[in-house]
Order: sequence, then C-alpha cells, then structure tokens
Amino acid sequence: MNFEPAYLNADLMFSGVDIPSGKMIWRSPSNIALVKYWGKKPVQIPQNPSASFTLSKSYSETEVSYTPATSGKPEIDFYFHGQRNPQFKKKTSRFFESLSGIFPFVNQLKFEIHSKNTFPHSAGIASSASGMSVLAMVLCDMERQFFGTLQKEEAFRRKASYIARLGSGSACRSVYGGLVIWGETDGVSGTSDFYGFPVIKGVHEIFADYQDAILLVDAGEKKVPSRVGHGLMNSNPFATERFIEARDNMAKLLQAMRMGDAGTFTRITESEALTLHAMMMTSQPYFLLMKPGTLQIIERIFAFREKTGLPVSFTLDAGPNVHLLYPAAIKRDVKQFIDNDLRVFLSPLGYIDDMVGNGPEKIL
Ligand code: PMV
Repeated sequence: MNFEPAYLNADLMFSGVDIPSGKMIWRSPSNIALVKYWGKKPVQIPQNPSASFTLSKSYSETEVSYTPATSGKPEIDFYFHGQRNPQFKKKTSRFFESLSGIFPFVNQLKFEIHSKNTFPHSAGIASSASGMSVLAMVLCDMERQFFGTLQKEEAFRRKASYIARLGSGSACRSVYGGLVIWGETDGVSGTSDFYGFPVIKGVHEIFADYQDAILLVDAGEKKVPSRVGHGLMNSNPFATERFIEARDNMAKLLQAMRMGDAGTFTRITESEALTLHAMMMTSQPYFLLMKPGTLQIIERIFAFREKTGLPVSFTLDAGPNVHLLYPAAIKRDVKQFIDNDLRVFLSPLGYIDDMVGNGPEKIL
C-alpha cells in the first residue's frame, strides 16, 4: 500500500514570501493509454492501474504570466489560441482554487494564461492530459523558484505528477516520457495511485521509439466528457470484472513489453481499446463514441496485419480517432498503408504522425 505524500499543510512553509511578477512557459505532451483508466474513486484515485506512452508531437504549450493581486483567491484570465476562453478560465480557476492548500501562493496572484495545442482540442486526444500537466509543471516550477523546494528532479516530477492527477487523472502520466504507469501495480515497486511512475529500465528496444499515427476520423468536440464516463462506471454491471481484467492486462502487457513480444502487445492494447468502448456501451445511460470510420479503419488494420504479418495494432482513447501503433522499422510500409487504404476514412485534418516522446519541456 502506498501512502499519500504529505503535500497538504504547506502553508507554513510558504508564509511571508511575496512573489514578484514573472512569466514561465512550459510544453507538456498528451499520452495514449495502452491499459485504460476508466472508473475512479474520490479524489481522482483510479479503480485500476493504467499504462501509457507519452507522445512527442501532440502537446500543449502554455505561457503563464503572474502578478501580485489582493482578492485573496487566484484570479485567472485564460486565452486559448489567442482567444479568451471562458470555459478554460472556469476549469483552471476551479483547479487552482482546489490547490490553494498545497500552493497557498496562488491566492496572492493574478494569472494570465496563454495556451495552445498542436492537435485538435476535445477530440479524445487527451487534451486534458497535456493541458493539466503543463499547469502542474508551472506551479511546481514556481514553488521551486520562489521557495527553494523541489530541487531534486525526482521530487519535482513526483509532485508535478501528483498535482496533474488532481486536474485530470491521465495527466499524471504525461509528466514523464516513455512508458508510464499510474496506479499500484503488482510486481512493479514504486507505482502509486497518487502519481505516475516512469518505467525506465527493462522495456524492449522495439518499444523505445514506437510510432503512433493518430488517425483523425472526426475532430469535433465529443459529446460525453470523460468525467461523466468515469462516473457511469459506478453503476456499470461489468465494472468489477473490468477492474480485475485491467490488473491482469497490466501484468501481461508489461511482460510482453519486456520481451519485445509484439503479438501479445497487440492483443492486449486492442482488447483494452474495445473494452473501454464496451464499458461506454454498457453504461446506463449508454453512449457510443466510435463513428463508422472508426470501425472501417479497424477492419482495414485487421486485414493489413493478416495480409502482411506486420506488427501494427490500434488503440482508441475516449473518442472516435484511431491510434495506429507500430515499430519505427516499418514506418514506410505504414505510411503507404495509410495513404492507400485509410485516407478515405479520415477527416480533412488527416493524421498526426506522432511517436513516443520524452515528456514536458521548459521553454522559459
Ligand atoms: O484523465 P481523464 O479523466 O480525461 O480520463 C482519461 C480516460 C482515458 O483516456 C479514456 C483512458 C486513459 O487511461 O487515459
């Protein structure tokens, strides 16, 4: 059993420090889950462990300017791609207010936030993962800069991951690069329900630069937010079995990734994707996030794999877009496959040619 880090009651540590005006810019990527987190307990504690690849090209870049203020609570102005965004302002205000026990300094500042994504927003490409993790990086960086804490990289990342989790569960995995686990996992010491854990050693080299072509079937806003989907798991009749299965899949996936076993990797990731959507379809009220193009692409992937024997697999996030996962060595074949067989099912936005990345980066 992992214990929650003692981040609350930090008020004393921070008393008496006046923060001057300043600015920070961080980039933080999205991630794609291989074993899915779907279902949670308060506060943002997952019902089962999950694992993801952090992405490289799909990220949020967020500039945060702060100035002293006197209202006694965090004042937020939020611009998304240059436009004032009341929805993000509200979400961020709520998030910062919820953190005032951990970062009391947010109450003495006004924040002007300018954020942009390199990928379509709210299309199930975990924009909350990049968006919340980038804010967590900034807040921890401010703590480090103004209070001299979090000097060790490990402590800095762990707290950033803990904070990101409070913003959006899956965001805690984006704080690290590569393969990241969130949730206590049998046989992997260091894993926790409170923050992400990067799997640095023992993963077979074929997975080090794994590719993810994100096929944009429909880049519109999704109709059911994941918050609602998680909530519906509380009454889903298959939930208990699902949580057991996810644990079992974690063990199988990690073993396959140690061995470089692309066949087992494919079976687990694809089954996880379909199970995630099956949970949506078996919730009450039920809902469906796949589109006809999603299924057509999946059929084509099955046929391509059957015909060529190449290790391509798919996964899905909470949306209709298909993540086509494959080793870098077959990039040329996969490009041809997408151009010849899959293009017709894509939205005008086409696809994002992404891959496993290194995690957040400080720009300023
Ligand atoms: O972090 P949330 O609350 O947006 O939930 C994300 C859930 C999935 O993306 C569907 C799965 C996952 O593990 O990332």
